[in-house]
Order: sequence, then structure tokens, then C-alpha cells
Amino acid sequence: MSSSAYDSFLKCLSEKTKTPQSQVAKIVFSKTNPSYTSVLRAYIRNARFNTSSTPKPTIIVTPLSESHVSAAVLCSKPLDYVFKIRSGGHDYDGLSYISDKPFFILDLSNLRDVSVDVADQTAWISAGATLGEVYHGIWEKSKVLGFPAGVCPTVGVGGHLSGGGYGNMIRKFGLSVDHFIDAKMVDVNGAVLDRKAMGEDLFWAISGGGGGSFGVVLGYKVKLVPVPATVTVFRVEQLMAAGAVDMVHKWQFVGPKTDRNLFMRMLIQPVTRNKVKTVRATVVALFLGKADDVVSLLAKELPELALKKESCTEMTWFQSALWWDNRVNATQTDPKVFLDRELDSSSFGKRKSDYVETEIPRKGIESLFNKMIELGKIGLVFNPYGGRVAEIAEDATPFPHRNMLFKIQYSVNWKESSPELEKGYLNQAKVLHSFMTGFVSKNPRGAYFNYRDVDIGVNDHGEDSYKEGEVYGRMYFGKNFDRLVKIKTAVDPDNFFRNEQSLPTLPTTKTVVAEPGTAKRWSRAGGAAVVASMVLHVL
Ligand code: FDA
Repeated sequence: MSSSAYDSFLKCLSEKTKTPQSQVAKIVFSKTNPSYTSVLRAYIRNARFNTSSTPKPTIIVTPLSESHVSAAVLCSKPLDYVFKIRSGGHDYDGLSYISDKPFFILDLSNLRDVSVDVADQTAWISAGATLGEVYHGIWEKSKVLGFPAGVCPTVGVGGHLSGGGYGNMIRKFGLSVDHFIDAKMVDVNGAVLDRKAMGEDLFWAISGGGGGSFGVVLGYKVKLVPVPATVTVFRVEQLMAAGAVDMVHKWQFVGPKTDRNLFMRMLIQPVTRNKVKTVRATVVALFLGKADDVVSLLAKELPELALKKESCTEMTWFQSALWWDNRVNATQTDPKVFLDRELDSSSFGKRKSDYVETEIPRKGIESLFNKMIELGKIGLVFNPYGGRVAEIAEDATPFPHRNMLFKIQYSVNWKESSPELEKGYLNQAKVLHSFMTGFVSKNPRGAYFNYRDVDIGVNDHGEDSYKEGEVYGRMYFGKNFDRLVKIKTAVDPDNFFRNEQSLPTLPTTKTVVAEPGTAKRWSRAGGAAVVASMVLHVL
């Protein structure tokens, strides 16, 4: 079965691209290809999904051009396989490269151009580029331009930007999607569309609604942002005994409201000190300005942190990106490390997310710390909002959580391969998430789409697809879910682009017999009737 799928896929790809089969065979990997395993593993970023029992794709395709992408879509459609799209492979729950149904992977890692236009202050960035390559590409051309996106340099553009794009300049500049000018994608008919050709609805949808429900994103044209020649970073820790509860409590009133040049992330982690279990709170910060200014600002606004100038380091914006990637000697680090794709993928991990709308009372912070000590491993990251991100309307892009005080990331990593440990750590994440219920957003409880979490619901794409999709879809997209579903229904009515948490199509409202043996399913999308044909075997 799989070898016939391979043969017909290869034949079709060769015809569509007008390239000999021997040539296209170089970008199509079946399980018998000696490079299959290394191609598959090159972009698996969570060791939980890199085991012998992890489901494996029947075929991996690694396009070298847009026409390869179009052909791969068209040639996969007649075959009954789930079509997974992978750019950087950083999906926290592995949705870009695993499936419990037979599947293909379209791996875009070869499409990685970054083209920066300094005069225009714009860049075209391809889906298969990493954020490190984007930052490096900008740095090569200008020391006073930057781009607001995530802090991990190996994250891929394709998933990260299509899903929102959150980083340490969010308070000053908003999300990555707030800087989109144009986009290119391949739709379900294999057509390559730019913004004009796809129309504003679809452009809106792939500006935060995730690419994977709508088509294959090839890249985005983005507006770059001005950054000062000198920025400041610092990292300050506090244990419970030194007043961490008060500091974290007060941080909630400062982090999301202070000068928007300042981003102070809060890491909260259970630790053992002198054989006593406690909690460590660490503020990791970027200030788009000089050290003296941030020290005097925080002396007034957050004296509980006791920030000293000695804890601060001034550097360029690009060096700060290296520093945020845990390169302690960022000012001495070779910028080329951001081009490195050889990664240590040995870590196992799980993430979940929440949003906080009103400050958690001091007693709540204390009870949270005690719960974390009891659980022992799971940590939290509080990421402040406010500033620019909150000035943009909640429906301007699919990302709805703009008026929240801060986002919580639940985070647990481990090195040992042990099903028992894994079960325990996954459970800790669930228990802490449940413990936080009273402190976080409600109706719906929010979650960040880019922090993929299958615990909040998955879609089997059967009869209940819409209902299943509503569960996680409203948590990720709030009221924007309805518009996303209408767009999905209009552009991909047969739901070719799907994964465990993709957007569903609208439920069928009426079935009418059109001619013997054929029925037409009617559904509504954006006020216009959308028709999807299906053959009925029994009438
Ligand atoms: P991957 O290739 O796994 O794809 C993720 C999803 O997008 C999948 O559903 C996939 O099908 C779809 N997709 C990928 N490419 C596509 C394309 N070209 N067209 C259509 N669909 C496509 N987030 C954040 O906002 N800020 C941050 O700082 C970080 N930091 C961070 C660090 C680390 C170590 C990890 C593992 C993750 C993050 N993230 C993050 C989360 C990250 O933004 C999220 O996992 C992105 O979806 C990753 O994009 P990739 O292309 O790497 O993932």
C-alpha cells in the first residue's frame, strides 16, 4: 500500500513539475530511503515524539521551490493520507510531524530565504527560515532595525508567525502578526497566492489563526521595527525567604503597566536550597534603552526587586537576542551561532498556557508557591502584556488575548527517557493547570495557539468535528473562532488541511439529493453558500 502511494505520488510530482522521476525522487523520502530517519528527526524538537513507537510518516517531501509545494498538495489530494506541514518542527505537541492516521509530511526547511530591504524597512521571510536566521539577516544589514518575534532562535517562521508570534518586544511593538504587509501561500488547489490574490479574509486568517488549517504558507513580508543602538538586559533571582511572594505579587501591578520599553518576564520554579524545598522567582528582562534609566525606573516602581546597575548589561539588540538564548557572553558570541541548525533534541517537554485578567491576590501567590513545592518539578513563566499589544483591536487579527495582564506558560522539561516519569510530569502540568482555575480567564478560559496543548481537546474530523473544534478553538481564538471557521469553510470545504487542532468547517446544515448517487452538502460561509460534493454509496 505504502509503496504504491510512493510510486503514484512520485509519478504525479514528476508530471506536475515536468521533472524526471529520478530528479524528484531526491526530495521524496519513503521509509526504505536510507536518509528517511535523519530527514524525519532533523526537525523533531521534543524527545517525547522521537521514540521507536512514535507514529512515522509514509512519505516526507522536502520541496526546493514553490512549484514543488503546489505539486505536493495536488498529488497528495487523491491519496488518503493526512497531510502534515512542518517548518521548524517546534510544535510543543508534535502536531507537524505525528498523526495516529497514515500521513505524509511536507517539510519546508529548504525554503529559508530571508531578504531584508533596509531602505524600505521590510523583509520577506520564508516559512522554512528560523527566527535566528531572520534576526541574523536583519543584523547583517542594519544595527538599528529589529523584528518582534519569539526568543528561541530555532523556532520556524511557518508555524510561529502564522500562529501569532510573541516575544520580548510585545509591549513596545505587539506581536509578529501586527507587522505583516503581505504573504504567500499555496492553497488547496495548488495555486500560489499573495495577499491580493487570496483576499483580506484569508490574509487575516493566516495572520494568527495558524497556517495549517488553510494552506501551506510560503512566507511573509513584514515591516521591521526601529531598535536603539544600545539596549539593556538583566536577570535577578529571589527565593521565598528573601521575599519572592511579595515581589511576584507586586510584579503583576508593574510588569504589564510600566514603560513599554521594558519587558520583564517572571520565571517561577520549585528548587531545593540547603535541603529545604522552596520557590525561586527570576525576573529576566529586556529594556530598549540604557541601564541607568531602567535602574532608576525600577527603584521607583518595583523596589522589591532591588535591581542594581551591576546586574545590568548594555549591548546591541542582536546581542540581546543571543543573551535571551542563554548565551551568557552574548557580547563575545559569534553571530553565526544563530545560523546553526544542528540541535540537541534530547529534551522531553510539555507546555500549557493560561491568561490572567486581574491580579492574583498575595494569598493566591503564596498558595501557588506551596502547590509548586508540593508538585516538585513543573515551573511557570509569566509574560507581561500591556503597551502596544493591548492597543490593537481584539478582532484586528485572530489573536484575541490582547487585553490580558499576562500570559502564563506551564513548563516542564526532563532528560530521562522513562514512561513513568513522563506520566508524572504530564500529570503535574494538568494538576497545576487545574489549581489555577480560579485565578485565570474564564468563559472561555484562554490558551495561546502557539503553545499547542492537546489536553484542551483534539479533533477527529468526523461527524462531531465542529463541536470538537469549538472546544479548543474558542480557547485559542475567542470570538474570532467564528470568522476563522467561515474562512476555513470557504477556502478548504473538504478539510484537506487538517490536524488534531485545526479549525473545523461549518457543520452541514442541509443535505439535498442532486442526482442519483450524488448528494450536495450545503453549508454557509461568510453569507455565501459553499457547496461541497460527496458521493453517497447508499441513498
Ligand atoms: P512546526 O513546524 O512544528 O509547526 C507548528 C504548526 O504550524 C503545525 O501545526 C504545522 O503544521 C503548522 N505549520 C508549520 N509551518 C507551516 C506552513 N509553512 N504553512 C502552514 N502551516 C504550517 N512561541 C512564541 O510565540 N514565542 C516564543 O518565544 C516561543 N518560544 C519557543 C521556544 C521553543 C524551544 C519551542 C519549542 C517553541 C516556542 N514557541 C514560542 C512556540 C512556537 O511559536 C510554536 O511551536 C510554533 O508553531 C513553531 O513553529 P515551527 O514552524 O517551528 O513549528
